[in-house]
Amino acid sequence: MKKTLALTILFAAFASCSSSDTYEDIETPTTPPVVVTPPVTNPGTETPPVVTPTPTEPVATTYTANAKSIIDANCIGCHQSGRSASFRPLTTYAQVKEAVENAGLLNRIQLQSGQQGIMPQAGRMSQTNIDILVKWNTDGLKEN
Ligand code: HEC
Repeated sequence: MKKTLALTILFAAFASCSSSDTYEDIETPTTPPVVVTPPVTNPGTETPPVVTPTPTEPVATTYTANAKSIIDANCIGCHQSGRSASFRPLTTYAQVKEAVENAGLLNRIQLQSGQQGIMPQAGRMSQTNIDILVKWNTDGLKEN
């Protein structure tokens, strides 16, 4: 029974509230609350500033990852046993490294096409390939 009483009081309170609301509603148009569409930003979706982490130090150019495929594609047709330049095989890391250090490999590939001693003999490779081999040397002629 106490509950019923309490509810009745509550209801009465609401009723009086809403009656005064109703009074105000007559003065103001009922539409404004509907225009709740938030403006431009989506709350909660604010994208954090684009964090561009400083990239980790540039990866060193290595024989296995970079140089070998260039040598294989452009040089070992002659520079391996049984071929015209078998005296200077270029099929292993040790051989190619040695040729850079002691046989002027980098000088040969940077000559101009048609120049005496240019390697490959048929003509200069792409500058991209040349740059990779030069950088391999700059990076310390690492195997891996
Ligand atoms: C068509 C065959 C052929 C191709 C392809 C070729 N070479 Fe040669 N290479 C030779 C011959 C033959 C010689 C020896 C004559 C000379 O020294 O010019 C030689 C010499 C060299 C020498 C000097 C070796 C020494 O001990 O003095 C180097 C270094 C060399 N080549 C590197 C290369 C590289 C690097 C490539 C690939 C980018 C390459 N060659 C592609 C035929 C070739």
